[in-house]
Amino acid sequence: MAGITNVAFRRLCREQGDGLYICEMITTRALLERNPRTLRMIAFAPEERPRSLQLYGTDPEITGAAVRMVVAENLADHIDLNFGCPVPKVTRKGGGAALPWRRRLFARIVRAAVEAAAPAGIPVTVKMRKGIDDDHLTYVEAGLAAQDAGVAAVALHGRTAAQRYSGNADWEAIAELKQALDIPVLGNGDIWEADDALRMVEQTGVDGVVVGRGCLGRPWLFADLAAAFAGRPERKLPTLGEVAAMMRRHAELLVEWLGSERDGCVDFRKHVAWYLKGFPVGSELRRALASVSRLAELDALLAELDPAEPFPVHTLGKPRGRTNSPGKVFLPEGWLESRDDESVPEGAELADSGG
Ligand SMILES: Cc1cc2nc3c(=O)[nH]c(=O)nc-3n(C[C@H](O)[C@H](O)[C@H](O)COP(=O)(O)O)c2cc1C
Repeated sequence: MAGITNVAFRRLCREQGDGLYICEMITTRALLERNPRTLRMIAFAPEERPRSLQLYGTDPEITGAAVRMVVAENLADHIDLNFGCPVPKVTRKGGGAALPWRRRLFARIVRAAVEAAAPAGIPVTVKMRKGIDDDHLTYVEAGLAAQDAGVAAVALHGRTAAQRYSGNADWEAIAELKQALDIPVLGNGDIWEADDALRMVEQTGVDGVVVGRGCLGRPWLFADLAAAFAGRPERKLPTLGEVAAMMRRHAELLVEWLGSERDGCVDFRKHVAWYLKGFPVGSELRRALASVSRLAELDALLAELDPAEPFPVHTLGKPRGRTNSPGKVFLPEGWLESRDDESVPEGAELADSGG
């Protein structure tokens, strides 16, 4: 997740349980141009294996070149191609979730990545949405095209671009894709608890699950997932004291990664509300925590929390993070009439990463 799954957060999560922890979305052009911010974003911790890199591309040549760079410079052990971004600035240019509609272009991008990664034995996966909207669904066709192109797995977020993050993810679509493909299919959407993951596997037959918003302010969800998939019943319900310790460590890891106490604390601010969701903590203290600039300041404020406060179980199973309403999908003019057009949409290559 852009802005979230940096080295610091991935480490916090990985310490809870095994999994494939993917970096923030990196744009192929910014990588090729060695944009300093992008190069910083593809940093992995020395012990981090496999190094899982997510790329965004709209041009087969640029995507192929970016993957060749990853191979030549040994930058990652797994590459995921993201075709799920619903942000208007991206779809308006034909990128992200709009791109699979141009089926030939989509297949060429995926093939270019797979061919460039093959000599190094690096698996390539694809992540996508159901389509642009209910009248323009692409997931089965795109899944088959990705399979033909040689990807190792496909992940489906069971929403269309028009749905953004609203409503419920369509797990039936995930089941349908699983039926249609021979390669592993991963399901994504609305895994808020470990038991949701078990339910998704049972209902859809998927080979694995992808977790997004459920881990916001809850790195221990991955301990629960590990327990659930091992058939163990225990689930973590940390007290406020344990949550405060996790918050402190998260901030500390961000400070370490960003190399600046202030930058680390500022980046940590966005996580405060997620960590405290449902706990009885006054608005003034919440506001103060969400404006910290120094670790000592954070410590003093965390000391004001009641460490014995039990976990607010009423928040279990509820959405976290972004849940915005559905909206019109902005597309380039004539996009819907250009399914077989292979040309690269103009201006769709983002210059910056993390979008
Ligand atoms: C803040 C935020 C940033 C995201 N960034 C990315 C991203 O960089 N790459 C990606 O594939 N998905 C990204 N997503 C989408 C999630 O990975 C996931 O597909 C989506 O939230 C649905 O899963 P969930 O219901 O588990 O959250 C992002 C979602 C959010 C809320």
